[in-house]
Amino acid sequence: MRCGGAPFRAMVVRAALVLAVLGACASRCACSPWNQDDVDRLRAWQERQDERLLMQQRGLEERQRLHDDLLLERLYQQTDGQLHRERQHDERQTERDERLNDHQRLRDDLQQDRQTEQSERQGHFQDIRDQHLDEHQQLHDELASDREREVEDLRRQREQLTDQTRRDRERTDREREREQQRREREQHRREQEREQEQRRVERERDLRDQRRRWRRDADAANATATDAVKSYEGSQLWRVQASEGDVANLQSLETNGVAQVWYSNATVWDLLVAAENQPHVSKLLADNKLAYTVVIADLQRAIAEENPALSEEELELTGRKGHRMTWQHYHRAADMAGWVDYLAKTYPDTCEAMVIGNSLEGRPLKVLHIKGKAGSPAMWIDGGIHAREWITSASVSYMVNELCENRDAYSSWLDKVDLYVLPLANPDGYEYSHQSDRMWRKNRRRGGGCDGIDLNRNFGYKWGGKGASPQPCQEIFRGSAAFSEPETNAIQNFVLSKKGSLKSYLSFHSYGQYVLYPWGYDRFVPPDHQDLQRVGTKMANAMRATSGLPYTVGSSAALLYPASGGSDDWAKGVAGMKYAFTIELRDTGRHGFVLPSSHILSSGKEVMAAVRTLAQEVALL
Ligand SMILES: *[C@@H]1O[C@H](CO)[C@@H](O)[C@H](O)[C@H]1NC(C)=O
Ligand SMILES: *[C@@H]1O[C@H](CO)[C@@H](O)[C@H](O)[C@H]1NC(C)=O
Repeated sequence: MRCGGAPFRAMVVRAALVLAVLGACASRCACSPWNQDDVDRLRAWQERQDERLLMQQRGLEERQRLHDDLLLERLYQQTDGQLHRERQHDERQTERDERLNDHQRLRDDLQQDRQTEQSERQGHFQDIRDQHLDEHQQLHDELASDREREVEDLRRQREQLTDQTRRDRERTDREREREQQRREREQHRREQEREQEQRRVERERDLRDQRRRWRRDADAANATATDAVKSYEGSQLWRVQASEGDVANLQSLETNGVAQVWYSNATVWDLLVAAENQPHVSKLLADNKLAYTVVIADLQRAIAEENPALSEEELELTGRKGHRMTWQHYHRAADMAGWVDYLAKTYPDTCEAMVIGNSLEGRPLKVLHIKGKAGSPAMWIDGGIHAREWITSASVSYMVNELCENRDAYSSWLDKVDLYVLPLANPDGYEYSHQSDRMWRKNRRRGGGCDGIDLNRNFGYKWGGKGASPQPCQEIFRGSAAFSEPETNAIQNFVLSKKGSLKSYLSFHSYGQYVLYPWGYDRFVPPDHQDLQRVGTKMANAMRATSGLPYTVGSSAALLYPASGGSDDWAKGVAGMKYAFTIELRDTGRHGFVLPSSHILSSGKEVMAAVRTLAQEVALL
């Protein structure tokens, strides 16, 4: 304890000092005598000294105390700081402990968490593993069933394949068999073709022989008859207005050989009168009060103007086409034959050439078969039965050419019918009309005083009836028997070979502009004449629509005159074709048979219209 130390030490110091002063005074007094003043002063100083001392003592004490206080305070402060620090330390310790605890707890928690997590994770993993295992199992099952299915499919496929292979093998066997049959058929066909070819070669050789003969004959005829070409110089065409009562008189003009009847109907007779007969005939007509007009004043001139020769240019051009036909000119039989061959060669699938026989002089009768779809009804068409009716062969050949060359434009109706077309039915007469006698009508049968047989009186239905003559010198000579002539006979054979499929017969003649149907042998009509009238009218309308020229429709005997042995009567009466027609092409007498070649194209278009119309009717049968 240091409390009260300093004041005590100050008091001790002060007491020592007083004693020292008092001893010094006593010694001097003994040595020197002290008056009272000195003693008093000394006492006063003593007292001041004491006082100072006391003051100092007090100051010291004060300082001591201050010092102690300070010390104490410092001590306190130190203690406080210590305490504070200790407390802080404790606090920090506590804090640390707490933190440690926290830490520990956290660690425990973490540990626990980790353990939980670990166990959870383990559980989770287990789940996933289980799940995976399940999935795996499922997949495995699926795969297994897939594989089973696949195996099953494969088995089935293999079975099917086996079946297929079996069937294929069977089919192959069948095909092989068929192929074998086909090959046999082919073999057979080839043999047949060889035979046909052989026959064809033979036929051609015959034909060549015939042609050679014909050429020899023609050359011979030409040589002897060059100056025998019949001249019509001064001949005239007269149109006579007549009535029923005049028929006998007018016919006698022909039978007597003073006039040739070109055309006649109930009111009009066209007579060709040679120059030397004109005064006689004129007188006869006057005697019978029959008026006439001269239609063609000089027939020879008309003939010269009818068919102008082709220029060199045109000739060259025609050569380049592969045939010589122009339809601007009346061509010779050889040009027509070459053209038929050209069509057959150029359009073998649609236009087939057939030789149905030969003329008396050995010219081939060439039919063009314009093919429709298989099984289509067939139609027969011919032109040029009468030699001088040049326009008929020209128009019919124009039609054939158009149908073969531009088939697609007509397929809507052309596909539905089979056309058999004979453009030149009387080639001998035709050639004769070119070379020797422009007005030749019949074929070229020789003998009996006069040559030729009227082929359109030679057909075998009511043969030898009205309007046909037994006299060889007559223009309407019927021949020795029905079908006595190779030209009519060939038509008969061909038509009868197609009986059943042929539904119509269309024969082109000129002139007069008529659509005629049976009967021709007399003034009767067949039971279905209304159908014939209806279809005939359609044809006439179609023809008129192309050219504007009117065509009169009716049964031929009623409209013109009875004529037996005609082809249309036979087609209807014997060959059993529903639609049998004869069409008299243009004109109505202005040019008659000597129709200028400039008419060919428009007449050909009329023929086309008539054939199209009839084909459409035939397709409906
Ligand atoms: C016939 O004779 C005439 C004149 O001599 C000749 O121009 C013509 O070519 C001959 N016809 C035939 C077919 O020989
Ligand atoms: C006879 O023919 C002429 C000339 O074609 C014609 O004008 C006339 O109408 C015809 N007559 C009869 C009754 O058909």
